[in-house]
Amino acid sequence: MHGTNITMLLESKLRGESLQLLRKLGELADERGVDAYVVGGVVRDLILGVPTFDLDVVVEERGEEFAEAAAVRLGGSVKAHTRFGTAIMGVPGSGKVDVATARSEVYERPGALPVVTPGRIEQDLERRDFTINSMAVKINAGEFGRLLNLHGGYDDLTKRGVLRVLTERSFEDDPTRILRGVRFAARFGFTLEAETEQLLRQAVAEDRLTTVSGERIANEIVLILGEPEPWAPVERLATWGILDAIVAKWTVPPEAEATFVEIGRLASDGPADGGEAETWRVHFLAMLEPADRSVRNMIVDRLNAGRRIRTLVLELARFEDEARALLASDARVRDSTLHRTLRRYSPELLEFCRARWRGTPVAERVARYVTELAHAATSLAGGDLVALGVRQGPAVGEILAKLLEARIDGAVASREDEIALATKLARELDEGNKS
Ligand code: CTP
Repeated sequence: MHGTNITMLLESKLRGESLQLLRKLGELADERGVDAYVVGGVVRDLILGVPTFDLDVVVEERGEEFAEAAAVRLGGSVKAHTRFGTAIMGVPGSGKVDVATARSEVYERPGALPVVTPGRIEQDLERRDFTINSMAVKINAGEFGRLLNLHGGYDDLTKRGVLRVLTERSFEDDPTRILRGVRFAARFGFTLEAETEQLLRQAVAEDRLTTVSGERIANEIVLILGEPEPWAPVERLATWGILDAIVAKWTVPPEAEATFVEIGRLASDGPADGGEAETWRVHFLAMLEPADRSVRNMIVDRLNAGRRIRTLVLELARFEDEARALLASDARVRDSTLHRTLRRYSPELLEFCRARWRGTPVAERVARYVTELAHAATSLAGGDLVALGVRQGPAVGEILAKLLEARIDGAVASREDEIALATKLARELDEGNKS
C-alpha cells in the first residue's frame, strides 16, 4: 500500500465540506510551493471507516503562516497557536483544522517534552507513536489522495489488527504512549504486537511513568474513561500494574467490572432527575473507590487533580461515613430523611452509588431519591409566608423546610394544605417565642 491513492476513500468517507476544504488547502499549498498532508488519527479513522470531524494537516513550512494564509483565503480564523509552528484554524461550516509544521523530535530526557526542529513529512511520521497513527495522505492538487504508508500501518490496521511502535525507544521517549496503547488496543479490539507489548511492559517495570506530569497522566485517564467501553482498558491498566506504577498500591479488582457495566447502562438511560452526571467522572469514582483512603489521596495528588475531582473524592468519603449505613439499614427510612441525606451529593456520586451497590437497598434508595424525590418542591415560597404574616427572618426558612418535609412524606398534598400547615407552624413558633 505504498504510493496507493485513496481519493475514493476520502470522497466517500469525508463530509463534503471537509473534502472541499482539503482540496482548497492543497491548492494553496501548490501556490506556496510546499507539500501538505492530512495525517495521523484522521487517516487511521478514514481507512477504518470511522467518522472523523476535525482534521490534522501537516505542511512543510511554518504551520501558522500557512494557516494565516488559508484563513484569509477561506474566510476562516486562526484561533490559537500552540507549541512550535502549530495553529488551529476554524472555517465556518467546515469545522476545525489543526495545521502543524512537519517536524522531527528529539527526546533529550525520557518523559520530558521533546526538542522540536522543522523537518520533512518522513521525519514527522517517524516520530509518531504507533504504525496505525503514522500514515499521511497528500493533499496537493497534483497528487491528491496519495497515501504515505512508510511503516506498514495500513496492513497493521486492516489485516493484522495490531498496535506496533515505530522504534524501541517509543515508550521511553513518551511514556504517555503506555496509556495511549492501552486505549487504542481496547478501542479497536487490537492486540499489541509481541515486541511492542514487551517494550510497554518493560517501560512500566522501569517506572518510566514517574517522569510524566500529573496533568498528562490525568488527561490520558480521562480519555480512557471517555471511551464507550472503558472497562477493558481499565482492567488492563490494573492487571499490567500500570495503575500501581502511577501510584503504589493503586489497583482495580475484577469485581469492579459489574460496576462499570452498570454505570454504562445508567448513562444510556439518559439524565436522571438529580441532574446529568458526567460519565467519565462516575467511572473515575469506580476506579478510585476500591483503594484505601490514603491511596485515594495520593492518586488525587499525583494527578494534580482539580477542584471538581477533589470534591468528588471528598464526597465519596462523606457518603461512606455519613450516608451508606443509613441507606443500607433494614429499618424504614422516611422519604424526607432520604431527601435530606442525599440532596448534598453530586449527580456523579449518586450514579456511582447506584452502580456500585446495585441490587441492594442502598441503590434502591438512591434511585428513589433521584427519580422521585430530587425535584420535590413546596407550592408556597418565602414571599407567600410573609404575606401570611410570618415575620421575615429565620422563621421563613424553618417553615419552608418543614413544608418541604411534609410534601415529601405526603403529609400535605395541595397549596391549601400547605397554607394550613404554615399557619399552624407560624403560630407555634410565635407561642414558643413568647414563652
Ligand atoms: N501522537 C504521537 N504520540 C503521542 C500523541 C500523539 O505520536 N503521545 C501522534 C499520533 O500520530 C496521533 C497524532 O499525533 O495520531 C494525533 O494525536 P491525538 O490527536 O492525540 O490522537 P488521535 O490519533 O487523533 O486519536 P483520537 O481518536 O483519540 O483523537
